[in-house]
Amino acid sequence: ARKIIIDTDPGQDDAVAILLALASPENIDLLGITAVAGNVPLELTQKNARIVCEVAKRQDVKVFAGRAAPLERPLVTAEHVHGGTGLDGPELFDPEMPLQDQNGVDFIIETLRREPAGTVTLCPLGPLTNIAAAFRAAPDVVERVQEIVLMGGAYFEVGNITPAAEFNIYVDPEAAHEVLSSGIKITMMPLDVTHKALTTRARVEAFRALQSPVGAFTADMLDFFERFDVEKYGSEGGPLHDPCVIAYLIDPALFSGRHINVEIETASALTLGMTVADWWGVTDRPANALFIGDIDADGFFSLLTNRLARL
Ligand code: BDR
Ligand code: CA
Repeated sequence: ARKIIIDTDPGQDDAVAILLALASPENIDLLGITAVAGNVPLELTQKNARIVCEVAKRQDVKVFAGRAAPLERPLVTAEHVHGGTGLDGPELFDPEMPLQDQNGVDFIIETLRREPAGTVTLCPLGPLTNIAAAFRAAPDVVERVQEIVLMGGAYFEVGNITPAAEFNIYVDPEAAHEVLSSGIKITMMPLDVTHKALTTRARVEAFRALQSPVGAFTADMLDFFERFDVEKYGSEGGPLHDPCVIAYLIDPALFSGRHINVEIETASALTLGMTVADWWGVTDRPANALFIGDIDADGFFSLLTNRLARL
């Protein structure tokens, strides 16, 4: 199984990604979860991460709180999508499992130094603040990362938080720039692919039909989560962004993309956080990421439902 750290800002779709990882021990060895400020402030994202672990009866998972704000900017949040708790939908509770004392950024550094070089994959599902902060504080760990598989960016789908930018990249563009220029092997799940992973009614009801606490919790989250896209855009469901990262680690054949150059806009007020993706190869800038463009959505949802049935 592949050793990973999930860096996350739950978020209903982050929560489903965590559940998929917990349900897949033959593919994934989850070393820890580091929370970051994003969809909602850090106090809520670290709490939500623990709630999700408890719903899956996995109080043993180590959850850390990382950075409370982007590297160089004030935090921008997304309660308009995720609700005031970040995890609106199901009935929430105060988790009993502890938050680890160690800071999430220090956990990332220590883990990369402790594990053999090239054996730990980082899975960022929120702004890239914790990851870039770790690289700034400990440049020696950069070459020890096996791969980064992240949710972020957009090309044909352009933006969701501004006309030009996707939320995770927009919130901390400096962090995104540092990660994209790190030289690490990077796989990106942009809106181009996640907007094809829609939570249709039938797919949500398949989670509820699992007749388990995890199935009900997931269906209740997605009932709430879809309303933003369904009401605002008339889309047939909500885009299940972050689970694409974990599904890729389990079954990469569900996805296809191109190795291309991706640069992050950090200066322009109008297009801040835009992922300038050279999909057509019109520059000679070297490829720095595998940019995913397509997904077998039915295969993805059947993987997800079959795996969550185990919890
Ligand atoms: C990303 O932003 C968040 O709202 C979601 O959790 C996802 O990680 C999509 O733009
Ligand atoms: Ca997220």
